[in-house]
Amino acid sequence: MKNKFGLTAILAFVLLQSACTQKTPTDLSKTAFIPNPVSIEATGHSFELNASAVIYYEEGAEGLQLIADYLSSEINRISGMSLKAEPTAETPKNGIYFTLANEDQELASEGYELTIGKKLIAIKANAVPGCFYGVQTLLQMLPAKTEAGQALELASGVIRDFPEFGYRGAMLDVSRHFFNVEEVKQFIDFLAMYKMNALHLHLSDDQGWRIEIKSWPKLTETGGSTEVGGGEGGFYTQEQYAELVNYAAERQITIIPEIDMPGHTNAALASYAELNCDGKATELYTGTKVGFSTFCTDKEITYQFVDDVVRELAALTPGPYFHIGGDESHVTAHDDYVYFVNRVQEIVVKHGKKVIGWDEIANAELVEDATVQFWADVENTTMGVEKGAKVIMSPAARAYLDMQYDSTTQYGLHWAGYIEVDHGYTWNPATLVPGITKENILGIEAPLWSETVTNINEVEFMVFPRLPGYAEIGWTAPEKRDWEEYKTRLAKHGPRFSDLGINFYRSALVPWEE
Ligand code: ACM
Repeated sequence: MKNKFGLTAILAFVLLQSACTQKTPTDLSKTAFIPNPVSIEATGHSFELNASAVIYYEEGAEGLQLIADYLSSEINRISGMSLKAEPTAETPKNGIYFTLANEDQELASEGYELTIGKKLIAIKANAVPGCFYGVQTLLQMLPAKTEAGQALELASGVIRDFPEFGYRGAMLDVSRHFFNVEEVKQFIDFLAMYKMNALHLHLSDDQGWRIEIKSWPKLTETGGSTEVGGGEGGFYTQEQYAELVNYAAERQITIIPEIDMPGHTNAALASYAELNCDGKATELYTGTKVGFSTFCTDKEITYQFVDDVVRELAALTPGPYFHIGGDESHVTAHDDYVYFVNRVQEIVVKHGKKVIGWDEIANAELVEDATVQFWADVENTTMGVEKGAKVIMSPAARAYLDMQYDSTTQYGLHWAGYIEVDHGYTWNPATLVPGITKENILGIEAPLWSETVTNINEVEFMVFPRLPGYAEIGWTAPEKRDWEEYKTRLAKHGPRFSDLGINFYRSALVPWEE
């Protein structure tokens, strides 16, 4: 009796074990990629990745070593395996191989071709960003985390892929609540996972000034000393900002610094009395009202100040853009606003950067290469386009990551409405605003304002699972986007979020997989 029970138990255990062991994947078309790639051709085999595999990169191709090292460190994080990365002059027979070959115009600078054979995985692109995006696609074929020692298996086939828009971003407001360097790096990793390439940092507002400016030290000493709710705030030293720029660049992400002006400037006005028209410093502000502050637009010191800030920050920023804010300057007279924005644009151009501003800046004369960020006002945005500007699409009612999912969401606001996961996904940047077409649009950006969001855990809840949808809107052509199909792919990313320790909103609209 005892023996028989023992045998049954062993048999049951063995059966359970084999049921739990994943089958070798052989159908590439079943992988839930986000963003949806341009084309997937499944070839019905599989590739086994084990610890003896080498990650090769084409010898002499600048920038590929960084990509190979990144893949190696990601595979190490996932599985504990340590794969070597080395240059090679010839196409290897097995392993993983990165190569640059400028022979496929359609792939442009961000596209790639990923070929998974039985023995070799090859990632080919015209430029380094394409190889990086090929890596992100490859990583989505692996679990986000595995038991050490478990072989990693991938279905074979060919993926050809390139983005719909060149600008695919998110914004983090580090002013209302401050997020430290490690938290911003986590945010950057989230963007990288979904092939986003722009991080807009909202570095100043009424409640806090978050970037060290050596020629105006009180900005951070005073202006960086608090945040919404009266917490201790904080700021990035120039070295820390440079560290973030580098971390982002290694992930093919450009940082766009924003100094919001002439409104949203109380933190600066509290730091330096001379920036105020009455010569008196304001009190620090830790509430959440908007539209009450303004620089003094007819004082020369204001432009000396802006010149110093733009000069120091532009020198730390290798990317092409400088964001001048310009929104909600409700206490700046219209003519003063126009005069100010005109002068500030010239300062930005003088320091070698292209201007981005919220849609209100279209009321000024726009410099060549200016970009208007549509958040609220169709008339402003249309006027911007008529003045020759390009547009970044950030419609608050669709793309604001701080809007609540529904009336029960514990963080966030709802002044632009609730944004459930489907509502955030089901819009087309090229048709949302009549008269603003794909040719006018640089791309899309999903902003996260932080009046109500205080730490990375809360950031994650607002960002996931909407961020992958915004990434897909930016990357995937509208013909290849459909909510009913997308939600089943998104469902398969739930276990990835869990494995990565991401605190995400389990929307009832998504059939989450465990
Ligand atoms: C904004 O939401 N004030 C740009």
